Amino acid sequence: MAKKRPEGYLTAREARKISKANRKITNELEKKRKRKNVPESEYTTQMKNPENAVEFDDLHTYFFTDAGTVKSVDGVSFEVPIGKTVGVVGESGCGKSVTSLSLMQLLQRPHGQIVSGEIRLNLGDKVYDIAKAPQSAMQDIRGNQVSMIFQEPMTSLNPVFRIGEQIEEVIELHDGEGKTKEDIKARTIELLEQVGIANSEGVYNMFPHELSGGMRQRIVIAMALACNPKIIIADEPTTALDVTIQAQILDLLRNLKDQINSSIMLITHDLGVIAEMADYVVVMYAGRVVEKGTAEEIFEHPSHPYTIGLMASKPVVGKEVDELYSIPGKVPNPINMPNYCYFKDRCDRCVEACNGEYPCEISLSETHKVSCYRYYDQKEGK
Ligand SMILES: Nc1ncnc2c1ncn2[C@@H]1O[C@H](COP(=O)(O)OP(=O)(O)OP(=O)(O)O)[C@@H](O)[C@H]1O
Ligand SMILES: [Mg+2]
Repeated sequence: MAKKRPEGYLTAREARKISKANRKITNELEKKRKRKNVPESEYTTQMKNPENAVEFDDLHTYFFTDAGTVKSVDGVSFEVPIGKTVGVVGESGCGKSVTSLSLMQLLQRPHGQIVSGEIRLNLGDKVYDIAKAPQSAMQDIRGNQVSMIFQEPMTSLNPVFRIGEQIEEVIELHDGEGKTKEDIKARTIELLEQVGIANSEGVYNMFPHELSGGMRQRIVIAMALACNPKIIIADEPTTALDVTIQAQILDLLRNLKDQINSSIMLITHDLGVIAEMADYVVVMYAGRVVEKGTAEEIFEHPSHPYTIGLMASKPVVGKEVDELYSIPGKVPNPINMPNYCYFKDRCDRCVEACNGEYPCEISLSETHKVSCYRYYDQKEGK
């Protein structure tokens, strides 16, 4: 009988076998992605609802690692309506960043790949399916149509270039046609003022290390908004900031979004931020959407046991508790997901049906959807 091995242990031979199989899959996908002169018709499609800016439809994004396939995003579907803010919440590692990086095609390749599903991006006159778009088409999309604000501004700014040069580079690259150097500088100063930098001429000539954290984050926002993108992805935009600056930055983001009528996909752990900013909320757990709805539905009537736990673990001012609630247990291993509800092992509200396969999505209202067996009696025809 084989000796019992610790969980996740692989012999060199097994790892080689996995890596060979991975290479075969990723080479195939890369070949497709790197093709040149792909006719646009191959990756144009139609929106389900033209009022949406983005529609994620059954997106699967995997990382083919030597230890096995990590199913980071495993069948995610949600929409971002034009002019609205959609908050994405969920435990660390549940696939929030990977979902947004898929939209930008900024996954760490070749091992990170969109393997199936659609990401429909509404460009006004046409619709692209980002999941099928070749690398060459993405240059126009990034920055112009979709832009991203990262968590830590110091990592998105280049320490050896002045602020002015860095913003100008973005404008030149994406929106520079027919513009003189003076035009670009004027636009840069205008952007700095728009994001509330008082000494715009001075900051123009400064290096990133000469600015405070809040100012740096404003610069990153200025760069993200330089080309009036249709979608702004903000991945934990205020985590590194103190609460007063956080409120200012969020206000700024909201106002700028309204000025250019774009949509925000806001990723955060912070339910307070979501409550303040979001029109819609998507709750993710272990690579799947477990519940989604309008902010009111999610905050007033959280339905999935995970969302209920999430709401219960939020501290409330004026309410005295001995210990804050925390959800017991941990997320399942992403390489080896169970074939039943991923939350079952941590759930204290299970019903008998929970032993069955992963629950499908149930509509509690037109906008409120939940994947949980407890609501199966509300399923149509049952
Ligand atoms: N480059 C990578 N290679 C392998 N696995 C990765 C890679 N990037 C992410 N993953 C895996 O994908 C899963 C989802 O990661 P992701 O970064 O989307 O989490 P997240 O929800 O953004 O978490 P956080 O709130 O901590 O930022 C994790 O299990 C992570 O280990
Ligand atoms: Mg993340």
